This record gives sequence, structure tokens and C-alpha cells, in this order.
Amino acid sequence: MRVLVTGGAGFIGSHIVDALVARGCQTAVLDNLSSGRMENLDPRVNFYKGDLRDENFVRETLKSERPGYVIHHAAQIDVQSSVDWPAEDAAINVIGTINLLEACRSCGVKKIVYASSAAVYGNPRYLPVDEKHPLQPMSGYGISKHTVEHYLAVYRTLYNLDFTVLRYANVYGPRQDATGEGGVVAIFTDRMLRGRRVKIFGTGKQTRDFIYVGDVVNANLSALTGGGGGIFNVSTGMPTSVNELFDTLKEITGSTPEPEYCPARPGDIEHSYLDERAAASGLNWRAQTGLAAGLLETVKYCRHAANNTFNN
Ligand SMILES: NC(=O)c1ccc[n+]([C@@H]2O[C@H](COP(=O)([O-])OP(=O)(O)OC[C@H]3O[C@@H](n4cnc5c(N)ncnc54)[C@H](O)[C@@H]3O)[C@@H](O)[C@H]2O)c1
Repeated sequence: MRVLVTGGAGFIGSHIVDALVARGCQTAVLDNLSSGRMENLDPRVNFYKGDLRDENFVRETLKSERPGYVIHHAAQIDVQSSVDWPAEDAAINVIGTINLLEACRSCGVKKIVYASSAAVYGNPRYLPVDEKHPLQPMSGYGISKHTVEHYLAVYRTLYNLDFTVLRYANVYGPRQDATGEGGVVAIFTDRMLRGRRVKIFGTGKQTRDFIYVGDVVNANLSALTGGGGGIFNVSTGMPTSVNELFDTLKEITGSTPEPEYCPARPGDIEHSYLDERAAASGLNWRAQTGLAAGLLETVKYCRHAANNTFNN
């Protein structure tokens, strides 16, 4: 199987690349390295450095690689940036994706797997949020992630380019930057390992659905061959409070400082978790990694990375 992963040098994309290479897939990566890193990349992949907004570059990459499948993760992922610079967010996430879809259609790609987000739902009206929940994004990021879902449906109808949309909850794990959507795990881990105090906004009773990156990888692998034309939440289906996250990380890291509780941030969602049952039936996929096990892997990685930085 020939697979092109956009954003394959980033946090989630690079784990997908590792899994594809391990399965013997001919794997290529398209990434502009704006947040991705070369050290995340397996040297066995064909790497194309460039920007999704560059229509010629995207077309030439697909022409030379001729993938049967594309896993699309390259994106502007920062919610606040999408509020501050909505045109740039749309240029990367919407226009950049249209460039990719046009290249896919002209190069005969069979299927595209797309990393969407819980941000498409906005403030939950009921819990758990299932795929039929009304869509009311609260940021340019949520709008741009959702807009692409419409283009995918249209390209499937018009050009027979199959797709599966995966709407991720808060993804965490090794290689995550402290600024991502699920950044709270990376930020807490980083501060705790440095012996610093962690800030919790509000009471800490607010909940999120934290999903381990290894489980997200497996959802992508299932989506390569299953779930055609479908939209699936990729989540644990379980709420975890920020206090619970803090306590579990405290136990794993051995960190001692108590958290500093700060006023809640305006616009923060109180409770959010996603119904994962559609993916169980449509993709034959379920999250397998419990919170403590996933956090343990994350802490191990961060410890190792910190030691390497210290020794260099
Ligand atoms: N991390 C999460 O919790 C989460 C949640 C929901 C959805 N997602 C989605 O998953 C995908 C991957 O997210 P991530 O957390 O791994 O982020 P990331 O920033 O680590 O990965 C994004 C990758 O895309 C590359 N990129 C960015 N703009 C580009 C451009 N214009 N052209 C080419 N490459 C570009 C970056 O260099 C990076 O390697 C994104 O599409 C994001 O919207 C992530």
C-alpha cells in the first residue's frame, strides 16, 4: 500500500508514519515543518518539504509519489491563532486542503482519511456528543475543520474519491508540543517534571475526553480500509476532570507542588466528551489505552527528551 501522510512530521502524523512503516507500507510525508520536526521522521520515508498552500508543490508531490491513499493531518491547529488570524487559518486548512483534493483527484488517489476535530461541535448541548450533534463551531479553526468535511463529501460524489472523517477529542502522548489542542497534558507534564507549579483555570472539575495517540493511530489504520464515506468520533467516551488528570500525573511524576487555581477563562467549555460508539461499529475500533497507562508513556518520553536536552 502506498500512503502519503500530510503533517507526518508533527505529533499525531509522525506516530501514524511509524505504524505504516512498521507494516511495510510505502510511506511518504508532505510537511512544511512549521511545527513538525525532522527528528520525528523515520528516515525510510520519502520526505517532501513544502506548504499545502503551494498548489504546484502539492500537485508535483502527488504526481511523483502516486499514493493510493492519503492521510491528511497537516493543518494550522491553534484555536487562538484562528481567532486572531482567521484568513491564514482558512488559507492553510481550507484552501490548502482543496489543493490537496485537486491533486488527489488528478493523480487517482483512492481514499483520503481526514483528521477533523471535536471543535466542529462547539459548546455541547448534550453529553456525550455524538456525530449527529448540531455543529456550531466557536472559532475559525472549528469552521475550517468542518468546511473540509463538506468538500470531502462533494469530491466523493463528483469524483469517486473516497474519504473517512475522524473527529478527534483531546489527543495526548509522546512528541506533543505544549501548545496543541490537547496541550494541557503536555503543559502539566512539562511543568511537573521541572518541579514547577501547575495552573488550573476554574475549579478543575471541568471535564475533557483525553485519547492516547496510539489509539488515534489505530483508528487511522482502520479508516484506510473501512468506514468509507463515514464520519466518526475518535474518543474514549469518558470524561476526565482536570483535577483527576492532575492527580494521576502527580502520582506518575512524583511532583509535589500543589496546583495554583486561577479564575476560569472566559469562553471555556465546562464539560465535553464524545460518544465513541459509531467508530466501534463503523471502523471496528475502540480506544484501548487507559488514562494512567497513556500518561505513563507520555511521562517516560518527556523524561527521556529532557535528559537528552540536558546532556547535549
Ligand atoms: N492534537 C489534538 O488534540 C487534535 C485534536 C483534534 C484534531 N487534531 C488534528 O490533527 C492533526 C494533527 O495535529 P497535531 O496535534 O499532530 O499537530 P502538529 O502541529 O503536531 O502537526 C501538524 C503538522 O502539519 C504541518 N503543517 C502545518 N501547516 C502546514 C502547511 N501549511 N503545509 C504543510 N504542512 C503544514 C506541521 O509542520 C506539523 O508537522 C491536525 O489536522 C489537527 O487539526 C488534533
